[in-house]
Amino acid sequence: MTDFPVDMTVKPEVTAFFDDATNTISYVVKDPNSTSCAIIDSVMDIDYFAGRITYDHADKMIAFVRDNGLTLEWQIETHVHADHLSAAPYIQDALGGKIGIGDKIMVVQETFGKIFNEGTEFQRDGSQFDALFKDGDTYNIGGMKAFAIYTPGHTPACMVHVIGDAAFVGDTLFMPDGGSARADFPGGDAATLYDSIQRVLTLPDDMRLFMCHDYGPNGRDIQWETTVGDEREHNIHVGKGATKEEFVKFRTERDATLAVPKLIIPSLQVNMRAGEMPRDKDGNMVLKVPVNGL
Ligand SMILES: [Fe+2]
Repeated sequence: MTDFPVDMTVKPEVTAFFDDATNTISYVVKDPNSTSCAIIDSVMDIDYFAGRITYDHADKMIAFVRDNGLTLEWQIETHVHADHLSAAPYIQDALGGKIGIGDKIMVVQETFGKIFNEGTEFQRDGSQFDALFKDGDTYNIGGMKAFAIYTPGHTPACMVHVIGDAAFVGDTLFMPDGGSARADFPGGDAATLYDSIQRVLTLPDDMRLFMCHDYGPNGRDIQWETTVGDEREHNIHVGKGATKEEFVKFRTERDATLAVPKLIIPSLQVNMRAGEMPRDKDGNMVLKVPVNGL
């Protein structure tokens, strides 16, 4: 059983937007009883080698919100992503609403502020965001009550957001045949990730779970929706009662074989600023590459 304020009678309308450049799934989550909506984990397009950013993916979401006459109340970042860049400020300029993330963003900003040698002008207090969530914090999307659950392990600032009968798990879980996300980034920890996943799996069996990523393992089509019961039964890393010891051993060995995400250098610099590009002293957008820094 769960001690979370779950209300399975609230059934938000969820529309997914898959980004095939980064295998990220962004969502519009609409209150069925009003025009209010939220966006989860948006994506900015980048041609990193050309140093060029564009907004095709975000523009599709903006058009969807406008075409359906929706009001954007929130943009939620489930964590500081290391594999894609957030488009939250661009979408906020177009549609308004508040940008929120877990309050442990401060830990992430401290870590990567040092690695990218950001200096004192880079604030490490989360103030780039409009809202910082603590474990159990609630917020409203129209008539729907949402709440956030701390789920560290992949990163220190990861949170799962639960809205009615739908939970947005970020990188805490992948589809059952994908297992779980890596836990070897700075501040990540496999044992902590296991504990976080166990908390998520105390949610009701038929709660819908929406992934942030899918890579179509073993050649299957891309999928992003499952349920708590399905994960508990079938997840290849944590399902059928896999122990913490088994998980930590597997996760640690697996992570040692994984390459660094292609977009980690730009992603961290942008996402720890709530999606804003860093700027030089003349106001130009400039990214850094710390050599042998990560
Ligand atoms: Fe991630």
